[in-house]
Amino acid sequence: MASKINVAVLMGGRTAEHEVSIKTGNIIVKALDKNKYNVKPVIITKQGKWLLPDGYIKALEKDDKTYDIPDTQASEIAPVNTGMALDKAVDEKVDVVFIAMHGPLGEDGTVQGLLELADIPYTGSGVLASSLAMNKFMSRKMFEYEGLLVPKGAVFNVWQWEKDSNKVISQVENNIGFPCVLKPEELGSSVGISIARDSESFKKDFQKALRYSNEVLIEEFVKGLEVTCAVLGDTGGKEPIPLVPTQIVPVTSDFFDYKAKYTPGATEEITPPIDVDQNMIKRIQETAVKAHKVLGCGGMSRTDMIIRDNKLYVLELNTIPGMTELSLYPQAAKAAGIEFSDLLSRLIEMAVETHKNKKRCVDF
Ligand SMILES: Nc1ncnc2c1ncn2[C@@H]1O[C@H](COP(=O)(O)OP(=O)(O)O)[C@@H](O)[C@H]1O
Ligand SMILES: [Mg+2]
Repeated sequence: MASKINVAVLMGGRTAEHEVSIKTGNIIVKALDKNKYNVKPVIITKQGKWLLPDGYIKALEKDDKTYDIPDTQASEIAPVNTGMALDKAVDEKVDVVFIAMHGPLGEDGTVQGLLELADIPYTGSGVLASSLAMNKFMSRKMFEYEGLLVPKGAVFNVWQWEKDSNKVISQVENNIGFPCVLKPEELGSSVGISIARDSESFKKDFQKALRYSNEVLIEEFVKGLEVTCAVLGDTGGKEPIPLVPTQIVPVTSDFFDYKAKYTPGATEEITPPIDVDQNMIKRIQETAVKAHKVLGCGGMSRTDMIIRDNKLYVLELNTIPGMTELSLYPQAAKAAGIEFSDLLSRLIEMAVETHKNKKRCVDF
């Protein structure tokens, strides 16, 4: 029998999306096929310490709870710094790192770059696609340039705001209008996102977004039907494959906010969408594949969109979609007949393949 592949599952991190990442990581650790893989969970605490806990898998398999290790307990588990963790990964012959992280310092190309330097294969997109996708304004620019439709929008930074907040507000009033959506430039899971109905709420919402980012993206509020579509990447010049789209109907919130995303029952997710026709389903899938290719994504992506007046607006692309029990990517895979653990195996195979295909410096 072929020997097992060593997979380190990286989760947590110094980000507002730490908790979601822990959930994703826990679920991946549990679901990975133990006949094929030796699984090593690696947790990055909120303060950036890397923990390589023994016995973690046993704790996870005991019940259905989510396990995290807070910084207060971290010292008991011999935390290591980033460099030492990489050395350990090389010493322990980690074959692939499964990056189960969301948001800055995980999904944004930084961890990907670190693993490139260490020459260790990793799942998902490479450095450039990861950072482009993480920056909502940059990815919008790319989408627009390549002919995809995006909501009207503009970005303002903390310094413009501090210098003359009234000027920012009047520009928003004149060019975008109310209601509008405020988003921290680099985050996900709807953290820090608000919808401002007027200039008064705009002020409060802008301050809230600034807690997470120095730049805030303002977009027109597109009132319509929200959908999302997962794409399974492929390597070696093969076309990425769109999975079945999902229609998103928040039940208790005005939009797909953090609560709607992570509270059971707070959102209806309908796969495939019932309120759009076949022609639109095809357009959604083509748009998701195009968005994936425009940013140059790797193994997987999920593009969020809104339909208004038969027009399809791209909101954003996620390179590491959530994989909690409520998450959309595993649901979409299931609808396409791909079991979760097979999906994870495919992502690992793609990581190995991508690494193998990479052209590196030769004699020059
Ligand atoms: N321009 C917009 N018009 C209407 N709703 C929006 C708009 N932008 C975002 N939203 C709502 O906010 C949610 C989160 O926004 P999104 O851009 O997907 O960021 P995140 O990375 O936090 O998921 C969306 O799923 C949607 O419900
Ligand atoms: Mg989103």
